[in-house]
Amino acid sequence: MTTRHFLSLLDFSSDELLALIDHAIDVKQRLQQGVSHTPLKGQVLAMIFEKSSTRTRVSFESGMSQLGGHAIFLSPQNIQLGRGEPIEDSARVISSMVDGIMIRTFDHERVITVAKNSSKPVINGLTDHLHPCQLLADMQTWIELRGNIQGSSVAWIGDGNNMCHSYINAAIRFDFTLHIGCPAGHEPNSDLVKSAGGRIKIFHSADEAVRQADLVVTDVWASMGQEQEQEERLKVFAPFQISGKIMKLANKDALFMHCLPAHRGEEVTAEVLESEQSVIWQEAENRLHSQKSLLERLLK
Ligand code: CP
Ligand code: NVA
Repeated sequence: MTTRHFLSLLDFSSDELLALIDHAIDVKQRLQQGVSHTPLKGQVLAMIFEKSSTRTRVSFESGMSQLGGHAIFLSPQNIQLGRGEPIEDSARVISSMVDGIMIRTFDHERVITVAKNSSKPVINGLTDHLHPCQLLADMQTWIELRGNIQGSSVAWIGDGNNMCHSYINAAIRFDFTLHIGCPAGHEPNSDLVKSAGGRIKIFHSADEAVRQADLVVTDVWASMGQEQEQEERLKVFAPFQISGKIMKLANKDALFMHCLPAHRGEEVTAEVLESEQSVIWQEAENRLHSQKSLLERLLK
């Protein structure tokens, strides 16, 4: 049997993703009711973080504990990977001792290399290219609050980055329309856009992209690894800030999401973040529940 990985949303079919979210909602209810659910007793997840994290680290670590297993936090400074041991060798060795690997890194090729050399499932905890785990939480949040997302209209405003790319994959798997509003020169990967067919439309204006949206999503303007571009990006992205005025152009009952961390006064105003339309805290919490469902699916 080949080892199943979760490097992209496209690694799972639409039905598998919907079933995964369905189970996440069930797992969440059990936790809230205090019902123990420990299908991963004795199992171990290795977590390699080559970039910072709050949500991803805490959700995977808590999730493994709650499922009866254990998670090991590995940062390159403290393992031989940081002293030049090849990632291929690291993946072979680590996977021989654990039941799964979660990795957050820069180059997407690196998670593919880890998966190729790992005898156990590998989960992409964010690369420069994709952030599929966040989309599980976002889709769970939408489904909890609004039901099926098929046929809905989503507006992605800001950088054509890893989150935007995963939204494109989500548009394919969950079958919704995605309007992307970004500055010229900051469009998402064109092959990815093409792969989504007619579901994606790109605008160079936030106003146009957000019109009639059922869900408005944004993210930081400078992602991890782009710190040196921060100043320049502040200027280029300024017209793409999500404000109350922009939210008014979307549908009246539109929801607002942001994967966090957020920069108030940059990509979004504090007013929108804390508004009734904003579901960011539920979205963040759902990282825990949706990834527990994913861990069960891959590790059990
Ligand atoms: N949204 C998200 O992945 O957050 P962290 O960077 O804190 O893990
Ligand atoms: N696009 C952001 C997402 C953080 C969760 C980054 O890569 O830094």
